[in-house]
Amino acid sequence: MNVLIVYGTTEGQTRKIAERVAKEVADCGHSVELLDAGEPGASVNLDAFQAFVVAGSVHQEQHQNAIKNFATAHCDRLNASPSAFISVSLSAALEETRPAAQSYVDQFVELTGWRPRMTLLLGGAVRFTEYDYFQEQVVKFIVMRRGLTSEPGADREFTDWTALASFVEDFLETAAD
Ligand SMILES: Cc1cc2nc3c(=O)[nH]c(=O)nc-3n(C[C@H](O)[C@H](O)[C@H](O)COP(=O)(O)O)c2cc1C
Repeated sequence: MNVLIVYGTTEGQTRKIAERVAKEVADCGHSVELLDAGEPGASVNLDAFQAFVVAGSVHQEQHQNAIKNFATAHCDRLNASPSAFISVSLSAALEETRPAAQSYVDQFVELTGWRPRMTLLLGGAVRFTEYDYFQEQVVKFIVMRRGLTSEPGADREFTDWTALASFVEDFLETAAD
């Protein structure tokens, strides 16, 4: 099977996640291509692929425009194939705030018309050492409000890599049926 992974990232965590998905897919013996939807001029012929994974992260309650545009432009093709959505956010990291993480996905699905067959809400990361002042204030507020036990100012990853691996395994199984 030839699998396309399209991702949007702002600070890099979703790229890392997409690269991990690509490795898992390749380790299972499939061909895989990675596309950063935010790269200027990013394009690919979707006819060459039998399954699709789209990953994006949430900022100010929205996924990247680049993946919104990709999903909207290709929703018929995506709906006709096995496809999965990985939504990366801090809200996904805690049971109490997962309804908020789900609401970002519901809004994305409503807007784009793409109905992914499988969806994963996945915790992201905080990278205070890389934020500008505005980003730092926003993330400090989210971390405080969410009650995420991040040391103030320290970088921390909330991504559950084991959950990601089993999601990819399940997706490849259903896509191959
Ligand atoms: C400025 C800013 C705004 C954010 N807004 C939200 C938000 O509204 N809800 C949420 O759950 N996470 C929010 N996050 C957390 C990101 O989703 C998380 O840091 C994620 O790992 C970013 O992925 P990326 O590195 O691929 O861009 C925000 C992060 C930043 C820096």
